[in-house]
Amino acid sequence: MTEPMMHAVQIHSAGGPEVLRYEQVTRPELQPGEVLVRVHAIGLNPPDWYVREGMTNVPEEWRPVFSYPLILGSDISGVIDAVAPDVTDFEPGDEVFGLIRFPDSLANAYAEFVAAPATDLARKPASIDHVHAAAAPMAGLTAWQFLIERGHDTVPPFQAELHHPVPLHEGTRVMINGAAGGVGHIAVQLAKWKGAHVLAVASGAHRSFLEQLGADEVLDYTVTSPEDSGEVFDLVLDSVGGADTGRFIANVTRGGALFPVFFGPVDPERAAAEGVYVSSTQVRASGAQLAELAELLDTGTVRVAIDSTYPLADAQLAHERAAEGHLQGKIVLTVA
Ligand SMILES: NC(=O)c1ccc[n+]([C@@H]2O[C@H](COP(=O)([O-])OP(=O)(O)OC[C@H]3O[C@@H](n4cnc5c(N)ncnc54)[C@H](OP(=O)(O)O)[C@@H]3O)[C@@H](O)[C@H]2O)c1
Repeated sequence: MTEPMMHAVQIHSAGGPEVLRYEQVTRPELQPGEVLVRVHAIGLNPPDWYVREGMTNVPEEWRPVFSYPLILGSDISGVIDAVAPDVTDFEPGDEVFGLIRFPDSLANAYAEFVAAPATDLARKPASIDHVHAAAAPMAGLTAWQFLIERGHDTVPPFQAELHHPVPLHEGTRVMINGAAGGVGHIAVQLAKWKGAHVLAVASGAHRSFLEQLGADEVLDYTVTSPEDSGEVFDLVLDSVGGADTGRFIANVTRGGALFPVFFGPVDPERAAAEGVYVSSTQVRASGAQLAELAELLDTGTVRVAIDSTYPLADAQLAHERAAEGHLQGKIVLTVA
């Protein structure tokens, strides 16, 4: 019997966007606890290009060894095609979305069909389409697990302790750096949902976008560096993170917190001396948390913005767009 086939975008070696190839591969087989999703849309995330490049941006000891060819991607929205016999929460025909298997293993999401653990999925909000649903999982769960509830007890590789979100309520002052990006624009809306006063930091082209999302103030970092602004906050979520993240200690009030979303060096002595809690976490797949976020997406309390869409076969163009930077929301691949 011939195996059922599908189209997928895979890479045969690490490299630039040119290594992405649209090819025929065998469809995944279901394991216990899994469902087969006919994919309608795939959300892109920075780990997609990190994996494509061979994870050269993380220390060698954290770098997984990949075997090629491999299919990139982890965020999907689609319709359930089949369920394993032990799956009772979903049935064929259900519309679902999810961050799949992250960070434990590859999800093989740039494909027409994806086998997903049922526990990683939630029902797609009825009021949004597959493109918007596919854009939400990783960015939304990252913002949720940093700001609202961690939802798991796995210590991330880059710090010794579990991350603890700080309470957000009416009047809490929050600064969000990288506010127009995937994580940032959802974080702005979650902080507003909790009643916080939000300063969004982004390049000037995103000002009206961020005001429409509810930001109380927008700072154009190309005109004024946040650390030179003299403003202080109860919480700084640095959704850009990396080498420069320690500068934001200057923007945190004593007793406040700095959350770098991408790991970077922060002087622990300076943080302790200035009474700043510095913490990060690594997002983990969670259908249960996604179901909570789905309610906010369904009511429009949280909106997912789409920077651009490309057909699955043009994944290379989508990665080239990502490399240009200055994203406003999310890039999504569509499946015919
Ligand atoms: N810890 C985790 O589990 C986790 C999960 C998801 C993502 N991440 C990491 O979080 C970071 C953000 O991810 P993302 O998906 O939100 O990326 P993204 O969609 O590419 O957004 C990045 C945003 O940052 C802005 N930006 C770039 N340089 C800036 C600067 N110097 N100051 C202020 N804003 C700047 C960009 O637009 P403008 O420059 O035009 O404002 C863009 O809107 C990535 O490093 C990613 O790897 C971590």
